[in-house]
Amino acid sequence: MRHLLSAADLDKDQAIKLLDLAEDMSDVNDREIKKLPTLRGKTVVNLFFEDSTRTRISFELAAKRLSADVINFAAKGSSVSKGESLKDTAQTLEAMGADVIVLRHSSSGSAHRLAHTDWVGSAIVNAGDGSHEHPTQALLDAMTIRQGAIKHPRGKDLTGIKVLIVGDLSHSRVARSNLILLTTLGAEVHVCGPATLAPASLVSSGRVHFLLDDAIKLVNPDVVMMLRVQQERMSDSFFPTEREYARIWGLNKSRLARIGENTQILHPGPMNRGLEIDAASADSKNSMVLNQVRNGVAVRMAVLLTLLSGEAS
Ligand code: CP
Repeated sequence: MRHLLSAADLDKDQAIKLLDLAEDMSDVNDREIKKLPTLRGKTVVNLFFEDSTRTRISFELAAKRLSADVINFAAKGSSVSKGESLKDTAQTLEAMGADVIVLRHSSSGSAHRLAHTDWVGSAIVNAGDGSHEHPTQALLDAMTIRQGAIKHPRGKDLTGIKVLIVGDLSHSRVARSNLILLTTLGAEVHVCGPATLAPASLVSSGRVHFLLDDAIKLVNPDVVMMLRVQQERMSDSFFPTEREYARIWGLNKSRLARIGENTQILHPGPMNRGLEIDAASADSKNSMVLNQVRNGVAVRMAVLLTLLSGEAS
């Protein structure tokens, strides 16, 4: 693996190997001294053109726990405001010694562009490109699902696990990467959301539901993954009102009572409480939101190790 741009870059064996390595990294994160010397002398650049809390901080922590040097770049306050391009910005940071560039950008395809031109020679990790993909989010979600659904996670895929992804499907890079990776890992993946927010490619797949109550009843999911309504990416009105959205597609106390006792609730964050998920669901015992955050550090350690240690298969 030279770069990680898409969940489709991983076949089942590679995905399982990364998830197993992430479990090892999770063990390191549980120690009193949460540090390995493995990436001493390497430099990780977090190149973030879009806001982030979880992804940027967890990549920073992951790199530091592996003893790499870290440069955090945020477009706000940088020379991007003077018109500097992605190419010039990336080349400038690579000239300072970057070995891996972790890129978040609002343009779909930006990570592929950086990886497949001769602009830079660093390994590229896609940390979210527009509405396209977010592969490390899918890996941390798969790790969380595997921990919850199977008692002995190492070496196992997700065969037999039913996942229901709910909400703003059109704008969600999280949904796209999860659909690819969870299917690779053998899970049965269903989606649910307003017809106005369901891409035609998904509708034709046959596992699309338009009403959450029906979907819960029909699928009986092991995992319900709620998506953030991405109002900042909406140039149009896709549902009548927020109240109407919450009523039909939101996870709430009444729906929580109808899902299985052991059904995991996932949300990539940040949550719009009261819109796609209410407080009772977000803070319930079924909620895996903080497990996802914890697993994010371990998964990103595994990705950096795999890309930089030269052990990639
Ligand atoms: N899940 C996720 O990508 O969160 P951030 O935008 O905070 O990084």
